[in-house]
Amino acid sequence: MNRRRRRLIYLLGFMGSGKSTVGKLLAETLGWPLIDLDTLIEAGQGLTIREIFENSGEPFFRQIEHAALTEASKAEPAVIALGGGTFAQPPNVDLIRESGGTTVWLDCPPEVLRARCEGLENRPLFRDAQSFTQLLVDRVPFYRLADFRVSTEGRKPEEVVEQILSLRVF
Ligand code: S3P
Repeated sequence: MNRRRRRLIYLLGFMGSGKSTVGKLLAETLGWPLIDLDTLIEAGQGLTIREIFENSGEPFFRQIEHAALTEASKAEPAVIALGGGTFAQPPNVDLIRESGGTTVWLDCPPEVLRARCEGLENRPLFRDAQSFTQLLVDRVPFYRLADFRVSTEGRKPEEVVEQILSLRVF
């Protein structure tokens, strides 16, 4: 098992927590490449995430997500912005831990997450307020397994990046 901390940061958290936005800024600040897992999946399939869900269903999406993660986790240095469900799949948690990278959970209050996701067409798992809340409740125990939790409440992306850099673990 690889116990050395690699120059590899995984950003995780629920839909709307700012993984892509913070990831882009963090990667720019560090001068590291950003790998946005959803973007990688879309490029590989030539389809949007919504189309993949509609055409082939969630189990297929989870398979290709795991394959994309396997590839992405070989990169170094890199900031990897995960999808909201990536770190809630036990095989992905194992893979990420084995990779020797650092995991950072971008935590955000449910009402803020909901407000950000409402009206957006590109999130097939956002159906209604009740299922959204249930999904969040189901996933928080996984998110808690992250090495670090950074609250994004009331913070601009720049401030979240500063918090992450202050962890000084990579
Ligand atoms: C998902 C979140 C999405 C995307 C897919 C599934 C989820 O990513 O991977 O729609 O299971 O919560 P974002 O968190 O970037 O929206």
